[in-house]
Amino acid sequence: MTIKILIIDDEERMCWALERALSHENYQVVTATRGLQGIELAKTTEPSMVILDLKMPDIDGIEVLKEIKTINPSIPVIIITAHGTIDTAIEAMKIGATDYITKPFKLEELKVHVKQALHLSNLENQVDFLRQELGKKYGKIVGQSDAIKEITLLIRQVAKTGATVLITGESGTGKEVTAVEIHNASNRADKPFVAVNCAALPEQLLESELFGHEKGAFTGATTKKKGRFEIADKGTIFLDEIGEMPISMQAKLLRVLQERCFERVGGTETIHVDVRVIATTNIELATAIANGTFREDLYYRLNVMRISMPPLRARKEDIPLLVNHFLEKFDPSRSKKISAGAMKILTRYDWPGNIRELQNAIERALIVCQDAEILPVHFPKELLNSLEKTTTPVINLTEGSFSLEELEKHLIIKALEKHNNNQTKVAKYLGISRPTLLYRLKKYGI
Ligand SMILES: Nc1ncnc2c1ncn2[C@@H]1O[C@H](COP(=O)(O)OP(=O)(O)OP(=O)(O)O)[C@@H](O)[C@H]1O
Ligand SMILES: [Mg+2]
Repeated sequence: MTIKILIIDDEERMCWALERALSHENYQVVTATRGLQGIELAKTTEPSMVILDLKMPDIDGIEVLKEIKTINPSIPVIIITAHGTIDTAIEAMKIGATDYITKPFKLEELKVHVKQALHLSNLENQVDFLRQELGKKYGKIVGQSDAIKEITLLIRQVAKTGATVLITGESGTGKEVTAVEIHNASNRADKPFVAVNCAALPEQLLESELFGHEKGAFTGATTKKKGRFEIADKGTIFLDEIGEMPISMQAKLLRVLQERCFERVGGTETIHVDVRVIATTNIELATAIANGTFREDLYYRLNVMRISMPPLRARKEDIPLLVNHFLEKFDPSRSKKISAGAMKILTRYDWPGNIRELQNAIERALIVCQDAEILPVHFPKELLNSLEKTTTPVINLTEGSFSLEELEKHLIIKALEKHNNNQTKVAKYLGISRPTLLYRLKKYGI
């Protein structure tokens, strides 16, 4: 893809020279020698960048800039100013110009400005993109079941208090999503939400990660570093998988919970922070206490407010909503539908990996499915297998409430599974020719 640059300059010689230099760098160039013409071209040709001379006979360059910025607020604009008109350039920067260059300039110099501006706008786009992704990651809690309604109510009540919260639940039930919701619904929402995975780091690293360290505190500590508790000041710290925290660290954490103060590793100064603590665990803390791997006093400090996330199998009525939510998320244009049979399987399965497993299954099915309809065969084998063991088959052959086509599709899917998708073997097994099999596969979108 070539990058299109619009040059607006009343001096034809200048336009020509810039066009030549930039075309040479493989940019596609569009030129305008009048301001109004430039605005028009900014609308019609959708350039990736504009180079604009501020001094123009028909219309003030600043006006041109304003127009261009209303057409596309994120477009980078480089201003060309004559010597001694720096004030106007500064004004232009305030309106949203990316950069300016003063006449006379070398073409090489301009090229550098162009590259930098494009690079910068690229980074800005990426930041926007990441923000959106983050918004998606921490999307609202989806669900209509009584269990989920109760959770949302609890979140709102708990959020207001600022109390320490312990969120328990199986893996993938939405503990982190819930923690983020609590933070966002609290009066700390515009302050940092800082997450630490207590299971991911060895003891020493975890300590300096949580409390920071002084320069020279240990080999490799070449500079002073703030810990997560300091970074989270006035906000929320999210201690994920606290049940896995080494016991010696638990004593240090207990002190922070009791006194809201600590020292950096290798430091003597006591640091006070105002931090709300939200912790999660997917192991049974009572068992960990009995086994001596978790401090009972810490447990009571954490367990001020308790939210237990229900497993997905306990709120199966939410599955269709979640499925649609994830279809929307991974296929925003909704080019693929989910078949009734496929939805049936999803609602029957027990989801040991809970919402995360369901999300992965949908994401995968959208990739595997080549046609417009997601079918049972697009789900992982475990899902279909475990279903056969635990519940009724996809089509209950004794029920009689299926169409001939459904039956045929079912048989083909089963045969494919049995023969590891080997089409020659499947055709032989079903007693049909390979072209007939291929035709059927296409017909049923398998
Ligand atoms: N109610 C919900 N609505 C929509 N998406 C959800 C919901 N709950 C969880 N998710 C999604 O499911 C995935 C798992 O959620 P999350 O990471 O919060 O679970 P977890 O309990 O922290 O899991 P783990 O114990 O494995 O860390 C995430 O991608 C999250 O966006
Ligand atoms: Mg988690």
